[in-house]
Amino acid sequence: MLTGKRILLIIGGGIAAYKSLDLIRQFKKAGAEVTPVLTKGAREFVTPLSASALAGEKAFTDLFDLTDEAEMGHIELSRSADLLVVAPATADLIAKMAGGHADDLASTVLMATDTPVLIAPAMNVRMWLHPANQRNVATLTTDGIHRVGPDEGDMACGEFGPGRMAEPVEIVDAAIHHLMDGPLKGKHVIVTSGPTHEPIDPVRYLANRSSGAQGSAIASALAALGARVTFVSGPATATDPGGVSVIRVESARQMLDAVTAALPADAAVFAAAVADWRAETETDSKIKKDGSGRPPSLALAENPDILATVAGMTEGRPDLVIGFAAETDDVIAHATAKRKRKGCDWIVANDVSPETGIMGGDENAVTVIDAGGAEAWPRASKTEVARKLAARIAKALG
Ligand code: CTP
Repeated sequence: MLTGKRILLIIGGGIAAYKSLDLIRQFKKAGAEVTPVLTKGAREFVTPLSASALAGEKAFTDLFDLTDEAEMGHIELSRSADLLVVAPATADLIAKMAGGHADDLASTVLMATDTPVLIAPAMNVRMWLHPANQRNVATLTTDGIHRVGPDEGDMACGEFGPGRMAEPVEIVDAAIHHLMDGPLKGKHVIVTSGPTHEPIDPVRYLANRSSGAQGSAIASALAALGARVTFVSGPATATDPGGVSVIRVESARQMLDAVTAALPADAAVFAAAVADWRAETETDSKIKKDGSGRPPSLALAENPDILATVAGMTEGRPDLVIGFAAETDDVIAHATAKRKRKGCDWIVANDVSPETGIMGGDENAVTVIDAGGAEAWPRASKTEVARKLAARIAKALG
């Protein structure tokens, strides 16, 4: 499965490093070439000799090993791989990656690379759950770093919980997933998702019921076909998709800025349920009851239309611009008109009347409208709808 693929395996300094030796074997069994890099800490647990013997290749350890620099160089070392795998990814290594440190061979290679990176974290449960580590992991997710595990279970330190490194077979499976060539390889797609929150005062906001589930599923499906995905999400409750670059925003105006900054793209899918209006003025302090019994009036201002803005670009417009139309009646008629009005190529229309259970639910029933007409898809899970849409996008961009 991994024949012809080159894995640069960075082994961090944790007790789980013993599993990395088996990981090398599993990668070799799958047909991959493995170049091991051991951190100083890793060398306390396993020796470069064992790693190199199992890999059948030299194991690298030192940034300032001049022979290595002459032979290859740390930049070349990172670029010649198809995938960088960090296993075990210790709390320290994760923090270094999140902070952009480059003070040894492993961290320098990770900084110098433009190759996909997969981390397999392993650490004590308290360390894994520590806010600092969670912050760092979130940063890596935003940076588009892939992750497998950690698993939950008994740990070498005697505690129980999340923190145990994923099993070598799981890591190899994750690597296979990320190395698969898909029809969207080399394409960049922007996906907006979730609701937006429009502040009224420091404690209140205007929002809607979008969970972000459909947008997340679309981003995952596009990534699975090999696309580089920038996922711009409002405060959604759905889990972030894996293997994509996540940009978190709150308001419609922030979402527009993030989308504009992420351009150029080959396609853009606007699945976010953007709030149409925001409070005309946001007050710095909480609005109080004035005792008169009369509620305060709330003046609204219209938000920028992100879809229409991108679809109407004369320069740098993505080849394919896709909008969604959340309607409660006359779905097809409204969506067809919306496609024209917004200037997008396709509109994915769905009926969000409460009785359909679609908004916030697991299923969706959509009609895809393009210049050629309307195509109704049977009701299916949001994952299935996302896969079908990603395949249609791949065909259109192909
Ligand atoms: N959209 C957007 N920016 C906005 C409003 C909507 O990018 N300010 C996008 C949505 O992401 C979606 C499409 O426009 O892809 C249609 O959203 P929808 O809420 O159905 O339509 P509206 O433009 O809000 O029109 P209306 O409320 O009149 O139905």
